[in-house]
Amino acid sequence: MPGDKSISHRAAIMNAFARGRARITNFSTGADCQSTLACLRTLGVQLECEPGDGGRGPTVTIAGASGRFVEPILPLDAGNSGTTMRLLAGLLAGQSIFSVLAGDASLSARPMLRVVEPLRQMGAHIAGRQAGRFAPLAITGGPLRGLDYTAPVASAQIKSCVLLAGLQAQGETVVRAPAASRDHTERLLRAQGARVREEGSVVSVTGGAQLAAVDVDVPGDFSAAAYWLALACAHPDAVITVRDVGINPGRVGLLDILREMGADVEVLDERTVAGEPRADLVARSSVLHGVTVAEELVPRAIDELPLVAVLALFADGVTEIRDAAELRVKESDRITSLARELVRLGGQVEELPDGLRIVGGVPLEAAACDSHADHRLAMSLAVAGLAGAGVRIGAAECVAISYPAFWDHARALGGDVGLLEPVGCP
Ligand code: S3P
Repeated sequence: MPGDKSISHRAAIMNAFARGRARITNFSTGADCQSTLACLRTLGVQLECEPGDGGRGPTVTIAGASGRFVEPILPLDAGNSGTTMRLLAGLLAGQSIFSVLAGDASLSARPMLRVVEPLRQMGAHIAGRQAGRFAPLAITGGPLRGLDYTAPVASAQIKSCVLLAGLQAQGETVVRAPAASRDHTERLLRAQGARVREEGSVVSVTGGAQLAAVDVDVPGDFSAAAYWLALACAHPDAVITVRDVGINPGRVGLLDILREMGADVEVLDERTVAGEPRADLVARSSVLHGVTVAEELVPRAIDELPLVAVLALFADGVTEIRDAAELRVKESDRITSLARELVRLGGQVEELPDGLRIVGGVPLEAAACDSHADHRLAMSLAVAGLAGAGVRIGAAECVAISYPAFWDHARALGGDVGLLEPVGCP
């Protein structure tokens, strides 16, 4: 699997801010993490990339800026990456420099007030389109005050942004959320010497600590492995093993959902490397049943919910995804785009304000679908086609955002994959 995208972003951003040199091995090959590296270079950070070998991702060596970035001459281009923009906003809020964060059309339509508001409350001056609702964001950073912040949604990006600002603030910064989310930032902050406390979904950090550089070996990306686990379960005759994949508890909600659906998935050889748990995962053809996914399971499976919608097509009975309105503000409105595309494949799908209702067991048809330029939608639709009656996907090259080798891996698994490049919309 490619190196984990969430951990690669954090390993690069937080080591770029730290004191000392760090080596990050098996760095994500996704375009999102390249956007992070490009932004860090624009901030004057010295970094080098060497290609990986034997299926491992590249090695990135970073010379940390010891808590001080250089005022960038150019805008920082976060591309399609929400994690890049929101995490960097947190660090830049505490820097006595002016910087501009920009992104592509999709990222520029995603909500930013959720990070702009707490950063303003801490003392940063941030301007942005529609009074800070949308990027580009222009940040004039400086001395920050600690904040006790209640986040409206269980988002690891909001939490990480406020914690990275809090690290530079006076006193204590507390982030409260409605439920727990992935805790990669907290784990790395601790490894780098910061004082971080966690109690359920409340996390706090003490300001003023200088982070120390630490080497990170990035585990395989669970969110990439998820496609193959789902494919094996939905396919009538398959066993797929994925090796060395991160199983952070805030990420593996899909394993709980799969088990509840009756799927045959095994977690083997669990171990912890560089502060993050990882394992080998095996999935086999399964008889699947419909489930309800809601509440605290949603943030733990947020990026895999499109895949749950696809699995629901292969399950008997009804599947409901609820409490998932966050899906509307991802790389596409994933509720509307999934409803539209799964219906083209013959699915019985109803769009709900906060999720989807899917009637499973209905025969699927081969069809042309659109990815809505959303990598997770393209890969989920591919699973539907590979396990079902086939699919032709428009704008399929967007898989490169997180998983450039996706189509090669699909072919290596025996999938009948033909690619026209670039693929036009149907
Ligand atoms: C991410 C957090 C999630 C997830 C995104 C990556 C991260 O977003 O959807 O793909 O690396 O922190 P939210 O925190 O906004 O839910």
